[in-house]
Amino acid sequence: MPSYKNNSECKGWPKDVGIIAIEVYFPSEYVDQGELETFDGVSKGKYTVGLGQTKMGFSSDLEDINSLCLTALSHLMERTGVGYENIGRLEVGTETIVDKSKSVKSVLMQLFEDSGNTDVEGIDTTNACYGGTAALINAVNWVESSSWDGRYAVVVAGDIAVYAKGAARPTGGAGAVAMLIGPHAPLVLESGLRSSHMCHVYDFYKPDLSSEYPVVDGKLSIQCYLSALDACYRTFSRKANARKDSAASPMSLEEMDALLFHSPFCKLVQKSVGRLAFNDFLNASVEEVPRTYHGLEAFRDKKLEDTYFDKDVEKAFLSYSQDIFLKKTKPSLLLATQVGNMYTPSLYGGLASFISNNTGESLAGKRVLLFSYGSGLAATMFSLRITDDVGPGSRLSELVSSLSDLHSRLNSRTEVQPHVFAETMKLREETHHKAPYTPVGKVESLFPGTWYLTQIDEAHRRQYKRRPLISINNASSVSSSSSNLVKESEFMSTDLLPQDV
Ligand code: HMG
Repeated sequence: MPSYKNNSECKGWPKDVGIIAIEVYFPSEYVDQGELETFDGVSKGKYTVGLGQTKMGFSSDLEDINSLCLTALSHLMERTGVGYENIGRLEVGTETIVDKSKSVKSVLMQLFEDSGNTDVEGIDTTNACYGGTAALINAVNWVESSSWDGRYAVVVAGDIAVYAKGAARPTGGAGAVAMLIGPHAPLVLESGLRSSHMCHVYDFYKPDLSSEYPVVDGKLSIQCYLSALDACYRTFSRKANARKDSAASPMSLEEMDALLFHSPFCKLVQKSVGRLAFNDFLNASVEEVPRTYHGLEAFRDKKLEDTYFDKDVEKAFLSYSQDIFLKKTKPSLLLATQVGNMYTPSLYGGLASFISNNTGESLAGKRVLLFSYGSGLAATMFSLRITDDVGPGSRLSELVSSLSDLHSRLNSRTEVQPHVFAETMKLREETHHKAPYTPVGKVESLFPGTWYLTQIDEAHRRQYKRRPLISINNASSVSSSSSNLVKESEFMSTDLLPQDV
């Protein structure tokens, strides 16, 4: 195991700052999306093919945002062996608000008590699904700044994504991701290339503080997501091109080995790959079009802003980008299709999925493009360069091995019938913000090592306990042999491919 103890070897300005370790937590129970189609009385294939979703993770009243983040952070610290005294900044990204004043970060400080370390900067950041990315940017900026004191930063992104009954409900999910940030990282954030797009819209928002449910304008949210993708890619490409010499080919998807997206539902991600290919097509030179985009010439006069719901453009570029999607994006959709939209952790669940479906050797030296979107809206595109140091004991090989149990952990969950899921949603509705309150969910149904809510007292103070941990290190040593792999058919419906759209 490589030493994560401190950064004392780091003399001078920190180099290669980025993500060193990732821990993913998702609930132990799920509902099958095919079963949900039948239960909801919608046409067969609407959730599984139309949205590209396979299973949806959800939590009972035993779990809230604090418990999800306590679990993810505890697991990260145990798996890496980094002492709490070695953390100088802790950032939380979430849109699951249980208190308008007290941060989730301050709740997480309970875990630091034994170490005596209270010198930990950072608090919570909120803007829909974007909070995790804002937290990551803050953490990386801190390590790269004159404020850095040589210790690690940690980013925790967590959410419970639940919707009222209706069309949006199958796009829910829940989970948390914790990431260790520092120098000499195996996943380095490329500097100077980040592009953002932020503006004021009401596509998805949560104005009713007494409810967990958002107000959603589904169609507008998709338009906003795609327009933010276009805007971020345009600015990212401009910045990337400015660094090249004039003879070099302009930025295109060609130069990225993987394309990762915030995933509200997998079908939108597949459409997003097509959308980026459409951007490349519109940017291509007159000479290149017949060479690379033979048969698509008729779309040359189309404008991005007129085509968010243009089915001809969508179909043509879904078909054109099918191989790109299968190679560069589909491996990142494991958690997105199996757990659902985790909101702030979604993109980082995508990164963990991508890593878990690769080996150190296949990742070494690769470049990854990531798109983060939060309604309201805030969006950023950025890129990671993966180290080529993949030797035994390297941080990259440790990262890959720590995520090799993802498939077996997904397979070890318990399936719950849709009516039980619906009753759980009703219970959450009725008890959200109730005080005093004692949760009624079954502790035995949680994974070992999971933190859970035991009590909310009359003053709304929340108390937590942890299920005994078997051993996260044993869990991590589970190899991803084929018997542990999530079956290809359950990974994501192949009906998603363009010919079936
Ligand atoms: P809907 O009413 O189910 O939409 O709402 P639909 O009837 O148009 O169906 C969806 C697709 O399924 C369509 O395909 C149908 O043809 C297809 P498309 O035309 O789009 O390619 N379909 C079928 N396919 C196969 N077999 C069938 C069948 N039936 C229909 N039998 C919607 C869908 C996503 C709008 C809804 O679920 C929703 O509002 N979800 C929440 C909002 C959302 O996820 N928006 C995405 C972008 S915003 C975002 O990412 C931010 C977010 O994460 C929040 C945050 O930032 O915090 C959500």
